[in-house]
Amino acid sequence: MKIRTATIDDLEMIAAVEAECFPAAEAATKEEFAKRLQHYSDHFWLMFEGEKLIAFVDGFVTDEADLTDEMYEKAELHNEHGAWQMIFGVNTIPACRRHGYAGELICRAIQDAKKQGRKGLVLTCKDRLVPYYAKFGFVNEGVSDSAHGNVVWNQMRLIL
Ligand SMILES: CC(C)(COP(=O)(O)OP(=O)(O)OC[C@H]1O[C@@H](n2cnc3c(N)ncnc32)[C@H](O)[C@@H]1OP(=O)(O)O)[C@@H](O)C(=O)NCCC(=O)NCCS
Repeated sequence: MKIRTATIDDLEMIAAVEAECFPAAEAATKEEFAKRLQHYSDHFWLMFEGEKLIAFVDGFVTDEADLTDEMYEKAELHNEHGAWQMIFGVNTIPACRRHGYAGELICRAIQDAKKQGRKGLVLTCKDRLVPYYAKFGFVNEGVSDSAHGNVVWNQMRLIL
């Protein structure tokens, strides 16, 4: 499997994978991804099987320690010199799940954040995924302020 960062040319594929992975209320739209790619395409980690995008991880960098709903929409808040690599999305298409692909992308994001001298990574997730992210070293900080998609989210942090 090939892993690389993104360019604006990947927009269609990224939006299609997102729509396959999340209910409409939680999925980022194509317009949102266009803004994200414009501001932080180097903070997308894409996995390809041949030419096909099968999984990706994305999120911007900020000095804010906690992940807020505003961050999902306001790509312009990305700060390339910030302390924390946020993780907004972790997606693998249904046909390719349980092969460790999301795990590989998470490890790559951790590796890059380390190389870039970040303090760590922050994500939010539903209860059922807390043990999954804990395997990579993320620690659950409890319920986050996020009301994204009307779901209860836990904030988890990995300190490098
Ligand atoms: C959550 C999600 C990203 C996981 O993607 P994935 O590529 O299947 O992830 P992995 O393969 O790394 O891990 C998934 C499970 O498969 C297991 N697994 C990994 N490699 C495996 C293998 N070779 N054989 C069998 N199981 C394996 C992992 O241990 C993990 O098990 P666990 O859930 O019991 O911890 C994917 O299910 C998804 O896109 N879901 C919808 C969107 C979503 O909820 N995203 C998370 C938002 S916080």
